This record gives sequence, structure tokens and C-alpha cells, in this order.
Amino acid sequence: MVNDVKKVLGVVLLSTVAGCTSDPKSGWGFTLPEGDAVRGKATFVELKCNACHTVAGVELDQTNPEEVATVALGGTKGYVVTYGELVTSIINPSHRFALGYISEEIKEGEVSKMRLYNDEMTVTQLSDLVTFLQEHYQVEIYVPTPFVPYY
Ligand code: HEC
Repeated sequence: MVNDVKKVLGVVLLSTVAGCTSDPKSGWGFTLPEGDAVRGKATFVELKCNACHTVAGVELDQTNPEEVATVALGGTKGYVVTYGELVTSIINPSHRFALGYISEEIKEGEVSKMRLYNDEMTVTQLSDLVTFLQEHYQVEIYVPTPFVPYY
């Protein structure tokens, strides 16, 4: 009996693990080498990310020469800003669009107005940028709606 239960648990565990990785396009297992936030800040300026972005709590030159909204990065967000989301926002800007901006100021049709860096940015620069940015995001604590009890 105990052995049967163990067998069933084993099968369930195996199928759960297999379930996580069975989709070849799954992001599961994706990890960049550890980055350096200080270098990340320097890279942010070097690659002129600050032309179109502010970063919460960080003083940077803001000279936006383009017809693009200045998009605020960092701060308190009601949604989780995960490592994966940050990496994807940098290497595939049109995968989804920043919330809270006038459409025409951040995209043309379905294409982001963010510059593509994929042919010039090194992996080290990417992991440094993500480490730098992640330090400036705080996830907003969810506050449930207060309901007054009925009497
Ligand atoms: C020419 C202007 C421009 C430059 C330069 C630029 N971006 Fe952006 N970026 C945008 C715009 C516009 C958006 C909003 C549209 C979108 O989500 O793609 C955006 C979105 C983002 C987002 C997602 C923000 C969110 O809340 O969803 C991140 C992260 C980001 N950029 C990082 C960077 C980094 C890092 C660099 C430098 C390597 C950079 N950007 C350079 C214009 C720019």
C-alpha cells in the first residue's frame, strides 16, 4: 500500500517536472550571468537609454531629442517587474507596450519607438543593465478592497 502511494507520487512528481519543461519555447531555465549594477548604470548612459528614460531614484541627464515619450523605469509598480520581463523589454521592445502612455508616443503601428540594440549590445551589458534596473523597482503591496460588514 505504502509502495503504491509512493509510485503514484513519483509519477505525479515526474509529470509535473516534465510539464514545466515540455514546451520547447518555455522560458524555464533561462538565466543570464550575474550582472553588476554600478556598471549597469554606466552602460545605461553609454547606450543613451537616458535619452528616453528616467529611472526612479537615480539622477541622470535627460535630453530627449526624439519624438518619443519619456518612459519612467523603476519605482512602485502594481504588477511584478520580473527579471524575464526586463530582459524581454530590452531585447524585444515590441513584445508588449509600457502601460499608461499615449499610444502614438511610444509606438508606430505595432512597433515600439524604442531603439533596437540587439546588434550592438553585449551580453555583459545586458545583464548589467537588468541588474541595475531591477534594484530600482519595488513591487506595490496589494491592498484588498475594505468591505464594511453587514449587520
Ligand atoms: C528612442 C527612445 C528609447 C531609447 C533610446 C530606449 N528606450 Fe526603452 N523604451 C522606449 C519606449 C518608447 C518604451 C515604451 C514602449 C515599449 O514598451 O516598448 C520603452 C520601454 C522600455 C522598457 C519597458 C518599460 C515598461 O514599463 O514596460 C524598458 C525596461 C526599457 N525601455 C529599457 C531601455 C534600456 C535599458 C535602454 C537602453 C539600452 C532603452 N530602453 C533605450 C524608448 C526608448
